[in-house]
Amino acid sequence: MKTFRDDFLWGGAIAANQTEGAWDTDGKGPNIADVCENGIISGPDETIKPTAYYPSHDAIDFYHRYPDDLKLMSGMGFNAFRLSISWARIFPTGEELEPNESGLKYYDDMLQQMIRLGMKPIITISHYETPLNLAKKYGGWESKQLIPLYLRYAKVLFDRFGKYTKYWMTFNEINGIHLIPWAAGAITLTGSEDHQLNQIYQASHNMFVATAKTIQMAREIIPDEQIGIMLTMSNAAAYPATPKPEDVFQTLEYQRRTFLYGDVELRGHYPAYFNRIVEEHHLSLDITDEELDLISRYTADYLAFSYYRTTTFASGMKILGDTGGLTGIKNPYLPTSAWGWQIDPAGLRYVLNILSDRYEKPMMIVENGLGVIDEVDEDGHIHDEERMRYLADHLKAVQEAIADGCDVIGYTWWAPIDVISAGTGEMKKRYGFIYVDKQNDGSGSLNRSLKDSYFLYKSIIKSNGENLLRYTTDELVAKYLTANDVETDPL
Ligand code: BG6
Repeated sequence: MKTFRDDFLWGGAIAANQTEGAWDTDGKGPNIADVCENGIISGPDETIKPTAYYPSHDAIDFYHRYPDDLKLMSGMGFNAFRLSISWARIFPTGEELEPNESGLKYYDDMLQQMIRLGMKPIITISHYETPLNLAKKYGGWESKQLIPLYLRYAKVLFDRFGKYTKYWMTFNEINGIHLIPWAAGAITLTGSEDHQLNQIYQASHNMFVATAKTIQMAREIIPDEQIGIMLTMSNAAAYPATPKPEDVFQTLEYQRRTFLYGDVELRGHYPAYFNRIVEEHHLSLDITDEELDLISRYTADYLAFSYYRTTTFASGMKILGDTGGLTGIKNPYLPTSAWGWQIDPAGLRYVLNILSDRYEKPMMIVENGLGVIDEVDEDGHIHDEERMRYLADHLKAVQEAIADGCDVIGYTWWAPIDVISAGTGEMKKRYGFIYVDKQNDGSGSLNRSLKDSYFLYKSIIKSNGENLLRYTTDELVAKYLTANDVETDPL
């Protein structure tokens, strides 16, 4: 059976605003995440309230602790690491003519350390971190004025860090703008539903143009560059609730909310079904022929995406969304996490196949993970069985998809270390293989310790996924459930 390629990228993914802290250190300006007291779902505060607790302001202090944290990552055998660069560390208001050298130096040192430890950096240029000034002054990505400012920022990154890596992606979960417009597009929706859709599609278009121009520029600066787009795949991971034709077609319409982004940025043109959306919602978009030409010439090299769960749709139902994607009706065949996300490894195989058929591009799963409440036992161990099962089952599904013919080039778990939740700002919702002693109220020593899942992932990476073929999930979990004390690999 065809399995993980020899140069498969194994690693983890984080974002600056959920890990670094040091939110106003060394010249960094405020960004759109810095004004969200309870995560991005509840939206931004008008200004930073002096007495309120903003979890992202100190996060897990990765800013100061990255040398040790990266050593723990490399201890798992990572050969890749996805991180974001915080735009406002480099351009505090987004509008300076010269970059902030302290911010550049911080990332320079960190990337060098990563490379020394054997990890290829995979860089997200913008992960919910638009400088706040650009949201306030221009209304975020709804304005085309952000395009040259983003390009100036991207050029500085390519000039300085292009020598360290060829793997980049332009915007985190660009299609998340339908669910979390402030985070994904730095926009605040106003007025009628049609007006809001107009804002969403104008901002999306402006980001498409920024992406195309970034790809054009990267091809001149970075040899052998790989510039990806990054989408949340929950809308594509959609099942009709019944075989009723209305349910089936409406599911397709929800899937198209995601496909549109891949269609434009990978195929290079707006799909025909977009015309009907424009017509029925009376959209009036500023899209020029010159921009369409750029979009068609500079398509992305690979498709990166996040996958947490699947969604089930019935026609006419009201759909809600959050960071994990859309929420339809409960699928009776799937278990549900403590945060209501339905766990579906087979759905990942389904999504990879759909995307492979449609785009025929290399794919990278840059976020997949499970947020759970971890219990620390009296010896200080964390036997995180649920997370281990999720990891093994999803990677088995990836392996099946590879055998189906999908070109999967990497997998970076979200998040290899506990981080603050993007959606709700909680610490309690933990994703890591590495535990961080920090609680929702900000208390805790910030000490790091290794969960059982750390050792399972390490063994999977070491065997390049081969042990996934040899052992069932039950066997893998049983062997690593007590692995905290094990010096040698039990498999
Ligand atoms: C993705 C984001 O939407 O979901 C991450 O790219 C985020 O930044 C992840 O952390 C999980 O969501 P949450 O709300 O559980 O942190």
